[in-house]
Amino acid sequence: MTTEELRSRNWFGPKTLDGFMHRAYLRAEGFSDLVFDGRPVIGIANSWSELTNCNAHLRQVAEAVKRGVWSAGGFPLEFPTISLGEILMKPTTMLFRNLMAMDVEECIRAYPLDAVVLLSGCDKTTPAMLMGAISADVPALMVTGGPMLRGNWRAEELGSGTDARRLWAERRAGRLSEEDLCEVEACLSRSTGHCMVMGTASTMAALAETLGMALPENAAIPAPDSRRLALAELAGRRAVEMARAGGPRPSEILTAEAFDNAIRADMAIGGSTNAIVHLVAIAGRAGVPLPLRRFDELSRTTPLLVNLKPSGKYLMEDFFYAGGLPAVLKELLPLLHGDARSVNGRTLADNVRDARCWNEDVIRPLGVPLASEGGTVILFGNLCPDGAVLKQSAASPHLLTHRGRAVVFENQADIARRIDDPSLPIDETSVLVLKHVGPKGAPGMPEWGAAPIPTRLLQRGVKDMVRISDARMSGTSYGTVILHVAPESAVGGPLALVRDGDPIELDVPGRRLTLRVEEAELGRRRLAWTPPPPHFTSGYGRIFLDHVLQANEGCDFDVLRGRRPVRREEGGGPDRL
Ligand code: FES
Repeated sequence: MTTEELRSRNWFGPKTLDGFMHRAYLRAEGFSDLVFDGRPVIGIANSWSELTNCNAHLRQVAEAVKRGVWSAGGFPLEFPTISLGEILMKPTTMLFRNLMAMDVEECIRAYPLDAVVLLSGCDKTTPAMLMGAISADVPALMVTGGPMLRGNWRAEELGSGTDARRLWAERRAGRLSEEDLCEVEACLSRSTGHCMVMGTASTMAALAETLGMALPENAAIPAPDSRRLALAELAGRRAVEMARAGGPRPSEILTAEAFDNAIRADMAIGGSTNAIVHLVAIAGRAGVPLPLRRFDELSRTTPLLVNLKPSGKYLMEDFFYAGGLPAVLKELLPLLHGDARSVNGRTLADNVRDARCWNEDVIRPLGVPLASEGGTVILFGNLCPDGAVLKQSAASPHLLTHRGRAVVFENQADIARRIDDPSLPIDETSVLVLKHVGPKGAPGMPEWGAAPIPTRLLQRGVKDMVRISDARMSGTSYGTVILHVAPESAVGGPLALVRDGDPIELDVPGRRLTLRVEEAELGRRRLAWTPPPPHFTSGYGRIFLDHVLQANEGCDFDVLRGRRPVRREEGGGPDRL
């Protein structure tokens, strides 16, 4: 691509009033006229925020990217995006993932950018940025913020989320003192970075790398490790090369084969269930059909190789020292499309050919897996005609084939109110059903699926029960938890028809979830069903309710699917003057 073909030249090249104004106003930031000499403009989309602890170090990462851009002869311009902090944002970050994707897409479209480096970290920020960048389809690559260092409490290693929930349950059961819990509070998150189990943030970082949208090794370098800044610098340099070459663009990288690779990687690392919703949404932006059945097909033939919490034993820091994602992809190579392209211009096979595994207890060889199947399975049946999701690697083996009677809760407030009611007829064989927590029902499909187990059962030593909902579950959670039931109860899906005492059968080997109630009776219940009132009648919430798709379609907005590539001639004049 010639200098004059760069998109940014539409802003800074013309010897017109527009060009003069664009240059003159940007020089308010103290740039010399050298930055307008035809060098590519690299946007650094930064989701830094003090409200998002996982992304709070991204300004330092952005400085490293800038270093790389300057050193390669580019002109870096950093801009903020909205940021989705999993811990503080209510009711759920998922309500805003699509909003963030719109923010990223429209900023790329509206500003004079020849390529973009996307800085993400906390769960939803990674898929949101990928979705926006794919729709805009300018050359883009991602640098994630990296996982935190291991948590440490006394002699115990702690994994964020996973061990927080476990120790909270211990406290509820009376086996941990208030003082101990207070000590744990200070030990869990002891560095910058995102959750350091194989939760959603770690999973999405791994999938961004597998898809080819991030440089090799990006996923696992701990946030405080100097190598993350070095990688960010290289990403800045690479962005300049991509801008000059005019690619590769996301549409050239994100093929059906790349998504197959991502699904296999997800299964092999025991990735978060949330990854399924996000991958479907990302594929929808790229125009690649990705039905849930594809996840199950690949899950059956992809072994679980990575021994990380919540499915296994170790944490992301161990994963990095063991070789990280390249070592996993090298093992998986016989099952992958090795010729899939990556942002660094090489194929996936080229990128991982020299990878080494340094600890086979963390990353197992293909021939000695932790399990012969992938971590996540897709269920179908009359309770979930459009599918449901279960993380079998984080479930209790004795519950994977189970029949029990439903104990039904109408919504999150209902379960909070009644779960510890001594008169609740519930035991460890019951199937806990939580309704109205899906995309439209909650709304935003919050991570409420790992519903609490009654305290009196916890005190008797019960650690898991079958739980079913149309919600999601935190990637750091565990248990026999069936999620993403589609269609959801709030739109009249069969989950809405379940009543207390109904027999429910879970058959994970057969991939079935069945409500054992006569069809005639379900028909009568269906006729009597009325939709709940909408949560919003105006504002962004109304837009969300009007446009959000069901879980099996990725919960994107119907009007946002697909690509809307920026055009070179985009970039009008300063019309405010
Ligand atoms: Fe941000 Fe877990 S809270 S990744």
